[in-house]
Amino acid sequence: MKIAILSGSPKTEKNSLTMQYVNYLRKSFPFHEFNIFNVSREISALAPSPLAFSRIIDGVTECQAVLWAFPVYYYLVPSQYKKFIEQIFENNAHSAFHNKYAASFSTSIHAFDDIAHDYIHGICDDLNMKFVNSFSADMYDFGDPRKLKSLLFFFNNFLSLIEAGTLTQKAFLPQKKESLSFSHSRPEGRIDPSGKKILLITDFLDKKTNIHEMFKTFSGSFTVSPETVVLNDLPIRNGCIGCLACGYNNTCPLPDSTVFADLFLKISNADILVFAGEIRDRFFSSLWKLFFDRYFSCGHPPNIFTNKQIGFFVSGPLMYTPTLLRFIYSFTGTEKANLSGIITDESEDSKTISSLLFQFGQRIVSFSCNNYIKPIMFPGVGGIKVYRDDIWGRHSYVFRSDMKRYKKTRVFDLPHKKIGVLLSTRIILLLTKIPFSRRLFYRNLPGLLAYFFRKLVK
Ligand SMILES: Cc1cc2nc3c(=O)[nH]c(=O)nc-3n(C[C@H](O)[C@H](O)[C@H](O)COP(=O)(O)O)c2cc1C
Repeated sequence: MKIAILSGSPKTEKNSLTMQYVNYLRKSFPFHEFNIFNVSREISALAPSPLAFSRIIDGVTECQAVLWAFPVYYYLVPSQYKKFIEQIFENNAHSAFHNKYAASFSTSIHAFDDIAHDYIHGICDDLNMKFVNSFSADMYDFGDPRKLKSLLFFFNNFLSLIEAGTLTQKAFLPQKKESLSFSHSRPEGRIDPSGKKILLITDFLDKKTNIHEMFKTFSGSFTVSPETVVLNDLPIRNGCIGCLACGYNNTCPLPDSTVFADLFLKISNADILVFAGEIRDRFFSSLWKLFFDRYFSCGHPPNIFTNKQIGFFVSGPLMYTPTLLRFIYSFTGTEKANLSGIITDESEDSKTISSLLFQFGQRIVSFSCNNYIKPIMFPGVGGIKVYRDDIWGRHSYVFRSDMKRYKKTRVFDLPHKKIGVLLSTRIILLLTKIPFSRRLFYRNLPGLLAYFFRKLVK
């Protein structure tokens, strides 16, 4: 069987870890033809070559199945891979994928690999592919024979299901295409930013788009206009190439690194951030993705967005784009930022959107003035623990700068030296060994913490 391998690593095939796993599969299944396309090396995130694109599409057309093989980059796929996916839709190249079996394979440290795989699954559903399964390998699984055995099982299963013509089921609703045309309206009043620095960032600010009108309405409601950065206007030349040289001291070796250094400084100095963009397929644009990939050079979260108010303006069917929503929760959560609101253009009329924008402006200033940061939820709590363990352990030598920062900001919170906790837990542990005190303890346990809080409230 001819299988198209869509490689998502921007590294060379020789250096890509993902591709070593693919090569392991190729060796293990010698009776099948692996046609490898180095998508993220051939498709630039900024100026993709139409020739390279059609060569890949022609190659996919000739194959019976597709394996999406990519490294997880900032909770999704690399920007170059995202650009390729956008091009499939823009160039109406669906027919190369239509009705073909597909599976996804990734390497990562398992930080939000679930979002990345669901994103690819959603894309396969949109392309009317028959998505079979996904396999998310840890970077170091190659050292564990049991994990490699599972990988072989996954791929063998993929091939068998194709040969048997097995039915597959879609997992994601198709996206609603129509949306209202939002027009800018006079603000309901004027908001005093109370000395708070507001920074609006968007990818494109083309006239007549809903995002443009949302920006105009929002900016116009302040007594002092917020600063705006348009990513498309910046002299950006590269997507992240995954060299990890930034791990030492957060200095990116790419020639346009100062563009990002200046932007990240601006972000550091702001109190309130608003990110805005249109939905392209099942995420923001590849340019926005490039921004997040390049942010990797700042180090692992929590980082420069911490304790800031962050809002999102989204144009497009966010209600039908759960992967983007999960990204927003995970990004703001791991950054320990306050997700102050998400305003979309999905409401029934322009007046409602204008009011939502105005009230959001009032709210975000009030939150910032009161240093309000709501508690982070599971994606944030869980993500930070994954990074903590990774930086403390196996990747401490790569991310030296994170290592220092995590120590300084006490992200390394285990093993802890809180004497009170250590002492009290040990005493209780000892007491619960005695049957009488154990019975007493478990009888009172359900109301124990409430008892202390009740005392506090009195
Ligand atoms: C820019 C960048 C972003 C990354 N983001 C993530 C991430 O969000 N989650 C994760 O688990 N691993 C992340 N990683 C780790 C890569 O997924 C991992 O190193 C992968 O094995 C690289 O594969 P490759 O050598 O084929 O490019 C990131 C690496 C880079 C360079």
